[in-house]
Amino acid sequence: MNKQEKVALVLNQPALNKGTAFSEEERQTHNLEGLLPSCIDTLERQLERVRGHLEAKPNDLERYVYLQSLCERNKTLFYATLMSDPARFVPIVYDPTIADVCLTYGALFREPQGMYLNKRMKGRFAEILHNWPEREVRFICVSSGGRILGLGDIGAHGAPIPIGKLQLYTACAGVPPECLLPIHLDIGTTNAALRADPLYPGLRSGPPSDKELDALLDEFMEATNQVFPGVCVHFEDWKGRDAIHFLARYQSKYLIYNDDVQGTASVVLAGLFTAMQIKGARLIDQRYFFAGAGSAGIGIANMLVEAMMQEGATQEDARARISMFDIKGLIHSKRKDLNASQQVFAHKAKPAHDIFQAVAQQCPTVLIGVSTVGGLFTEKVIRELAKSCDRPIIFPLSNPTDRAECSAVQAYAWTDGRALFAAGVQFSEVEIKSKTLYPGQANNFYIFPAVGLAVYATRPTRITNEIFIAAARGIADQVSPHDRERGLLYPLQVKILETEITTAARVAEYIFDQDMATVPRPKNMRAWIEDMIYRPDYS
Ligand code: NAI
Repeated sequence: MNKQEKVALVLNQPALNKGTAFSEEERQTHNLEGLLPSCIDTLERQLERVRGHLEAKPNDLERYVYLQSLCERNKTLFYATLMSDPARFVPIVYDPTIADVCLTYGALFREPQGMYLNKRMKGRFAEILHNWPEREVRFICVSSGGRILGLGDIGAHGAPIPIGKLQLYTACAGVPPECLLPIHLDIGTTNAALRADPLYPGLRSGPPSDKELDALLDEFMEATNQVFPGVCVHFEDWKGRDAIHFLARYQSKYLIYNDDVQGTASVVLAGLFTAMQIKGARLIDQRYFFAGAGSAGIGIANMLVEAMMQEGATQEDARARISMFDIKGLIHSKRKDLNASQQVFAHKAKPAHDIFQAVAQQCPTVLIGVSTVGGLFTEKVIRELAKSCDRPIIFPLSNPTDRAECSAVQAYAWTDGRALFAAGVQFSEVEIKSKTLYPGQANNFYIFPAVGLAVYATRPTRITNEIFIAAARGIADQVSPHDRERGLLYPLQVKILETEITTAARVAEYIFDQDMATVPRPKNMRAWIEDMIYRPDYS
């Protein structure tokens, strides 16, 4: 190797680069003398500089751009920054900033991160996957951009989603970054405005038929498993039909999961488990009312049924505890427009087109909003719910904020502070009757990084819904009595790494108990997992 190549090896490789933290000796060994300023910084000093740069940026979108270019320069410093204050930086590298990133991705695009496969590569996926420089890929996060956050089908503008999602595996749970591969699978987009945009970075065609898409995904799954044996494929932000369909199609054949379906359901279940601890009740004692029966609603309801069955209910009894209400009104057995996954929640009931009427008829104790309709939970609806129970549970999960079915202030005010509340977005604390209440945020980042870490450690044969239920229990059990007293349904975000490791250890125990692990069971699960996590330092 010549001198230039040696320099390129360390300075241009984000995983090896230390920038001004290279020691004298390293500078000599790698021929870096004269190529760096004289100071020899510690990682802490470099962090101080990064924080200064971030402070000087005018908004989070600019901070995002800066952080991603840091990631492409120096991975250790990037993750050290994120992990130094996840509660501050996760919202910058992911939700909510990522929505602005996606909207402007064509113009923002600087450097490729991850892989960009498209439908024209059909027949060559395996060959092309070999172009990725790392061989030990353990996780692929793949999106088509078909249904991003509240933005709908944005095709190739959805590419930052798998990139950000995988960065959270490392930032929140210490999964080593070199084993993560984000992929945007460009199947085309229905978004005509984007296709006409000269800076659009994707294919300018519409998506294929369902049959063609199945064939494309069949090849994709086979190729990923052939090139990266044992890889876990995380599906993210596929449109409703595709999300549920591909989960069902591949769940028993490959190591896969869908975060929108299973991660969402699990984090909602975690909030419900904590609420049950506060109420001193069981899931099977509650009556659930879902406003919205789309992919999020159905995913949550199905996992809730499984969790109630773990408490001893039959599937029929568990389903009977759940009512659903969608754009056409209450879902009941006479409706002819329901799909198979909705039909199982269609009970004998009087038709009701108005949500207040339906809530009054069904007398729920839990109200879950996944309707995408801001303000749907009116004062009348919430007061009706609060009439029949001491601690009503109110989860307006739709986001962004203007789509939340009600706000934290409204939920607490209309229930005299009795509500157990979590939303899809983070609301600020609320002062009521001289008590401060802290609204929960049902953020999937409590779940998928921990499940990822457990999967990384145990190499299970499959990922089941029960694994996600175990993760939900693991999260709920970490909310201290003091925090529950303050209305918190989830652990504090400042201690996220600690929380995720504890959850991962619980999930790993479950995987071993079910004989699904393919590695020997360690004596001390937590120590074993802690030992393999990534820590951003230069050693
Ligand atoms: P979707 O589009 O598949 O389903 C929406 C459902 O709401 C449909 O059943 C529709 O009929 C119903 N709906 C529409 N208008 C309504 C109305 N006026 N009254 C009652 N129901 C109505 O959407 P998806 O994927 O199920 O997501 C729903 C919401 O949940 C989104 O806002 C999404 O951001 C949010 N979400 C939150 C998560 C979290 O907090 N962790 C995770 C996943 C989704």
